[in-house]
Amino acid sequence: MKILVTAGPTREHLDPVRFLSNRSTGRMGFAAAAAAAERGHEVTLVTGPVALDTPAGVRRVDVVNAREMLEATRRGLAGNEALVMAAAVADWRPKVCEAVKVKKSAMLPVIEIEPNPDILKTLLPLKGERVFVGFAAETGDPAAEARRKLYEKGLDLIVANDVSLPDAGFAVETNRVTLFGRDAEPVTLPLLSKLEVGRALIAWIEGKAKR
Ligand code: C5P
Repeated sequence: MKILVTAGPTREHLDPVRFLSNRSTGRMGFAAAAAAAERGHEVTLVTGPVALDTPAGVRRVDVVNAREMLEATRRGLAGNEALVMAAAVADWRPKVCEAVKVKKSAMLPVIEIEPNPDILKTLLPLKGERVFVGFAAETGDPAAEARRKLYEKGLDLIVANDVSLPDAGFAVETNRVTLFGRDAEPVTLPLLSKLEVGRALIAWIEGKAKR
């Protein structure tokens, strides 16, 4: 299959040196891309700024902010049969990005922000027969939020994890996830490496594509 994966945070710049972002390191998305490539799929990885090596056999597209990620993902969608949105897209961006570094003395104590587009919701009308997979990083029991996002974002599968646990979520090599599909009972996987979570996810996509 041809699979498009997004990973990492986005950075929403205030000026050339300052930005709003989040704790994502890109590990889960890179692991999903590596797992897909390992299975012989053709993988394109759209990633925000991360400090990770590109997995073998994966085509990488680097972006910085949410709008660039939306455009790269939109462009990639046409040639792909599945989209795995593992990126932690920043929800907000500063209203203004200055072209030169703002002097400390000239900075205001308030940053005006505006919402970023939701990439999955924006691309939903173009979904067609493609498999769409999203992630839900929650604190506490993720089930209710995961189900809401599954339907609201028109996904086939959502991978939910509790980011308040020390061995799951941001900046660790392992993850504890539950897979919520539309037409099946949720499946909670044991504590796994992110690569193993990626493998489970790719196996699910392969199964879905055959049906
Ligand atoms: O709504 P929330 O950010 O929790 O949803 C997470 C899922 O939505 C992830 O798959 C993420 O990649 C995707 N997302 C998106 N565009 C955004 C924010 C999140 O596609 N602006």
